[in-house]
Amino acid sequence: MNPEELADLIRSRRTDMVVDHERPVPRDLVEQLCDLAMWAPNHKRTWPWQFALAEGDGRAKLGNVIADAMEVYGDPPERVLKARGKYLRTPAVLVVGSAAGDTPDRTAENRDAVAAGIQNLLLAATAHGLATYWGSCPKGANDVVAALCGFEPGTHVAALIYLGWATHIPGAPERPPAQLRTI
Ligand SMILES: Cc1cc2nc3c(=O)[nH]c(=O)nc-3n(C[C@H](O)[C@H](O)[C@H](O)COP(=O)(O)O)c2cc1C
Repeated sequence: MNPEELADLIRSRRTDMVVDHERPVPRDLVEQLCDLAMWAPNHKRTWPWQFALAEGDGRAKLGNVIADAMEVYGDPPERVLKARGKYLRTPAVLVVGSAAGDTPDRTAENRDAVAAGIQNLLLAATAHGLATYWGSCPKGANDVVAALCGFEPGTHVAALIYLGWATHIPGAPERPPAQLRTI
């Protein structure tokens, strides 16, 4: 891949979930994407990435634990109800966690590494023709989601990534130009 092709791939990634609902996302492809996430820079090589895949009934399970936590947190009933079915919107939802470090600084660096890895994963998914959509874990639901996923205690749920085979090419909104200052 030449630099222009890489730039095109980076620019073509979009947060989007217009997908073919009948076409499953192969688990071994998701495993490959997770492996690529782990090629991101990672200070002290702490390997903080945690992954769990929800497919089929797992998506409703994920929605239900999140909705229950939102209810406890005090979210309005309509938002709680929406959350129950929310993860059925794509054939697969990949949960990505960032393990706690042994100091607050290391925990922050782990989160940076995990976010960098997620971008690897999103770009690779885009190259395969998958639509991806990075959603946050709703407030109050972090620990129940981490427990459902079997993540290490203290893990921050960094992303709930909707995955499915894209059925359209989304438009690319303009970005402001980067400002490079001189020191
Ligand atoms: C840490 C993080 C959390 C995000 N959480 C959400 C979310 O909860 N809901 C959502 O609609 N988009 C979420 N996004 C996606 C952004 O909204 C999206 O990247 C942005 O709209 C730009 O669109 P693009 O990715 O197509 O360029 C999140 C992105 C990041 C990096």
